[in-house]
Amino acid sequence: MSCTEGDRKMDLIITGSSDEMSRKAAELFARRIRSNPAIVLGLATGGTPEKMYAELVRLHREEGLDFSRVTTYNLDEYLGIPETHDQSYRYFMNKNLFDHVNILSENTHVLNGMADDPVKECRDYEEAVKKAGGIDLQLLGIGSNGHIAFNEPGSSVQSRTGVVDLTENTIKDNARFFEKAEDVPQQALSMGNGSIMEAKEIILIADKESKADAIFKAVEGPVTEDVPASLLQKHPNCTFIIDSLAAGKLKNRRVL
Ligand code: GLP
Repeated sequence: MSCTEGDRKMDLIITGSSDEMSRKAAELFARRIRSNPAIVLGLATGGTPEKMYAELVRLHREEGLDFSRVTTYNLDEYLGIPETHDQSYRYFMNKNLFDHVNILSENTHVLNGMADDPVKECRDYEEAVKKAGGIDLQLLGIGSNGHIAFNEPGSSVQSRTGVVDLTENTIKDNARFFEKAEDVPQQALSMGNGSIMEAKEIILIADKESKADAIFKAVEGPVTEDVPASLLQKHPNCTFIIDSLAAGKLKNRRVL
């Protein structure tokens, strides 16, 4: 698959620091929440969004940013770890955002990694997103191998929410959050590339030099399933907010 002439690529905002990336992304989320208080957000985990969530908490506390009508759906969850596990994505979301803002817990959704029938869990999740009217604004991070959510290189452009295998690369990257690499689950439940592409607006954030290669391939490389983030070049309303280190390998640094 290659990007044909005339395709609109993602917008690009390059910030001077990781803090500024977090602030800019939080400001954009806050603007969207203010203009649509019943917004449906798609949320991400990982080290990258932590400071952005902290900024949203600050905006709630100091400027009254209201989450009372907001609904959220998270991208993914490890298979086989309970939500009480300190590395589950549900635990992360409670700790970094939900416990500190006035969101209703019944409006927050994270795939259940302990579901008896994970395939049904994923099907039901897709249905629930659809019933909610779809995702208005989706936050994404990016893996150092170009993955989005847990859609590893090679996952289909049309993939739907399902059970996925993690690559050695991702297990190695995420081992820093666990005691040892063997503790990292080898599978996860994840929204698919096709599901993510249905969001009305997408914001991808990335910082640090370790993401520079993936960002270069996603922004300036061909649109290919080998780099899931490159599929975003085809999304009609997608912005990358990245720091100058993550932008380090881009040849064309003007806003695309
Ligand atoms: C994980 C998550 C992704 C996230 C990526 C990057 O594998 N499933 O949603 O974007 O890692 O994480 P970090 O921000 O810690 O680099």
